[in-house]
Amino acid sequence: MWNQQFITLGIESSCDETSIAVVADGRHILSNVISSQIAIHTKFGGVVPEIASRHHLQNINAVLQQSLDEAGITLSDVDLIGVTHGPGLIGAVVIGVATAKALSLATGIPLVGVNHMHGHVSANYLQYEDLKPPFLALIVSGGHTNIVDVTDYNECRVLGSTRDDAAGEAYDKVARVIGLGYPGGPKVDRAAKEGDPHAVEFKRVYLEKGSYDFSFSGLKTQVINYVHTEKMRGHELSVPDISASFQQAVVDVIVDKAIAAAEERKEEKLVMAGGVAANSCLRSEMQKACDAHGIRLYCPKPVLCTDNGAMIASAAYYKYKKHGADGLDLDAYANLPL
Ligand code: KG4
Ligand code: ZN
Repeated sequence: MWNQQFITLGIESSCDETSIAVVADGRHILSNVISSQIAIHTKFGGVVPEIASRHHLQNINAVLQQSLDEAGITLSDVDLIGVTHGPGLIGAVVIGVATAKALSLATGIPLVGVNHMHGHVSANYLQYEDLKPPFLALIVSGGHTNIVDVTDYNECRVLGSTRDDAAGEAYDKVARVIGLGYPGGPKVDRAAKEGDPHAVEFKRVYLEKGSYDFSFSGLKTQVINYVHTEKMRGHELSVPDISASFQQAVVDVIVDKAIAAAEERKEEKLVMAGGVAANSCLRSEMQKACDAHGIRLYCPKPVLCTDNGAMIASAAYYKYKKHGADGLDLDAYANLPL
């Protein structure tokens, strides 16, 4: 079957996952190998960029071979190589880009650089065969919190952004403060399931009326102050209650703003993307809100929300169809605007 289709290899190495996937026609996953570095970074309490780069370098050839094997193909079956070329940890992005360029040079297979954030949005094309732009998207990751109008594949107009911490960054920092450590988001998500979301009423930060921007650093400070005060009073901290209360404050604001943007623009589709879209509370609250407002919610399964090569392959396929290939002078960028 696959040999009648257009095969894209997607390479992702922008943070702490080395991932390579094989995707047919930009939509069908034939393999999606994700080598996580969680165990390595856990003892440091967060991602150490230099160590991440080194592990990408050590793992990437084995991840490539496994990805081809699982898809049942060889490199000669590949029609396109897509790679994250930013934004991300620069030393980590460079490993993926150098690998992609070396493969392209050695085989003659065309190469396309993908913006990692467009990759996150594209994860939805892998799950929902009928989904096509335009639509409204909420992108919530470790480095970004955006509400965007997706006007075409790999193209969007930003309606709102975070003014300080990204949602995932807030999860990770709060996890550290309450002793859960790295990786913060999934640990807070898990702890919150045993807690009371109304145990601590943290203030929700909405900014000016009508704004689709976000601010999470004040919420993080509220949690830090609460923890210090409770400790000074000699009270025992309830990690589940703090997790649930913090999470509810984040989710309330994100859901309200995304729904307000959809309502104002009379959007019938809302797409979620990025690592924080794996959050169980955000997924269920957004689903409830969308149901109440007659909006269809698209949200990839958790493994496609967090970093993976398949989403990069999908984005690369559509970019190549519209703009053709990049040259071997493709560069890696720590910052790359949407
Ligand atoms: O999209 P992603 O994998 O990488 C970036 O592009 O940043 O997102 C990583 C972020 C981290 O901050 C992580 O804590 C958060 O997503 N995250 C979660 C969950 N899973 C990952 N946050 C809340 N709940 C989760 N279940
Ligand atoms: Zn990401």
